[in-house]
Amino acid sequence: MPDPETGTFAEGEPLSLWLASAGTTAYPELSGSLDVDTAVIGGGIAGLTAALALKRSGRTVAVLEAGRIGTGVSGHTTGKVTSLHRLAYTALERSHGKAAARIYGLANQAAVEHIADLVAQENIACGFRRVQNYTFAEDDRTLPAVREEAALAASLGLPATFTADVPLPFRAAGAVRFEGQAQMHAVQYLQGLAAAVDGGGSFVFEGTRVLGLRERTTVAVAASHGTVLASDAIVATNVPFGDHGRFAALCRPHRSYIVAAPVAGPPLDATFISAGEPMRSLLTVGLGGVTYLLTGGEGHPTEEQVDPAPRYAALAGYAHSRFGAAAVAYRWSTQDAIPKDGLPYVGPLNADSRHAFVITGLRKWGLTNGTAAALIVADLLNGTPNKWASLFDSNRAALAPGTREAGGTGPARPKDAVSPGASRMRIAELASGDGMVVDTEGGSTACFRDDAGEIHAVSAVCTHLGCTVGFNRRDRTWDCPCHGSRFDVEGKVIQGPATEDLPPRTAS
Ligand code: FES
Repeated sequence: MPDPETGTFAEGEPLSLWLASAGTTAYPELSGSLDVDTAVIGGGIAGLTAALALKRSGRTVAVLEAGRIGTGVSGHTTGKVTSLHRLAYTALERSHGKAAARIYGLANQAAVEHIADLVAQENIACGFRRVQNYTFAEDDRTLPAVREEAALAASLGLPATFTADVPLPFRAAGAVRFEGQAQMHAVQYLQGLAAAVDGGGSFVFEGTRVLGLRERTTVAVAASHGTVLASDAIVATNVPFGDHGRFAALCRPHRSYIVAAPVAGPPLDATFISAGEPMRSLLTVGLGGVTYLLTGGEGHPTEEQVDPAPRYAALAGYAHSRFGAAAVAYRWSTQDAIPKDGLPYVGPLNADSRHAFVITGLRKWGLTNGTAAALIVADLLNGTPNKWASLFDSNRAALAPGTREAGGTGPARPKDAVSPGASRMRIAELASGDGMVVDTEGGSTACFRDDAGEIHAVSAVCTHLGCTVGFNRRDRTWDCPCHGSRFDVEGKVIQGPATEDLPPRTAS
């Protein structure tokens, strides 16, 4: 609860509630050489759903996950499983036409049912439960947009109605309501998918960061301690690699924030998102005898390097004033790839790819968009016609030339960069827990001073396409503003598309 005098609040643990409450997995690291039909890079919703679909169709698969299953973007979601994506249909009809909006909706609604089926068939204990999902107008200003979305979505064949009866504990003017939607513990769901994938000639590997892939008549995927040779590969890593930066140029990385705070009473049978600004995404869940309210929002493009503290405080303040939420128990942020034309990219990794495929641009609705995309890719690999594939085609006409190349069009260096002559003095003044980018004899260098006063210096040049990283004081990470790669203070990749660590430098 924010302190009314100071505006500060109990910050909670900097950890996703889903990761805090899930058990852990312990799949081995890839070691040596392995032959399978399909290599799947990325153990999130898209990769695991595709892997299981392909295994069920008779292929052998190997899933290569850099961290632990579900610890990437999929483990930082709100947990909504829905085809109601705020006011997406109105926007898609305007930009791509009604037929496109219908395909997007039907693909996502089918994804809701596919997840429900897998939960039942694989007996996955993930708290999956049916709820209604609402996009609500808090006042009359956004009411027309909500009415329009409801009418359009219903005309597309989606389970939509307009209602003035919105089950929120504060007044709302009206809402789009989608029936038969769901919520779930996404990490437990992914762990269930991984368990279904592993075995019978198929594999899940963790702690296996892929360093590169080479596509010829087959695909060779190289990791630190092993190689997978496969007929086909799928890159499902949020922002992909191996694509010469073309999808990074077509998707804008966007960061958003979530706080989880205990509230009184049982979880609601509904999830919500506001139509107006500031956007607020709301979900309640019961875990360990506690009902948590998840409040999401405060998003911004990653190129805007901001202090997260006021963002978390704003969400905590909303949760307290609207729901009477107590102090925040958990807080976390996540990064998503927002496609510039509003549609995910699913299909060949490069224009001439025959065996390497990509899933990206899931536009913050990854649980359903990622599931739909995975089913498309599985059909493409199996030669099965798929009625959604052309809309999401990764080679679609919108794929304009002019992608960013290494060292080229990245943003200007952050303000704290200084001339070589002044760098030593600047580093000497660096406070514990802080970081800065300075020019040194070795080039642009990212310097961090730890709590013991020691300087940790690494190259400030992002290993993806050469932008300059900036220091994130809250998380003590080096974040790339261009496409969202993140590195720890030792330069190790935390999040791609970068696959290589920032090399060490001397701080002088
Ligand atoms: Fe692309 Fe850094 S240059 S993530």
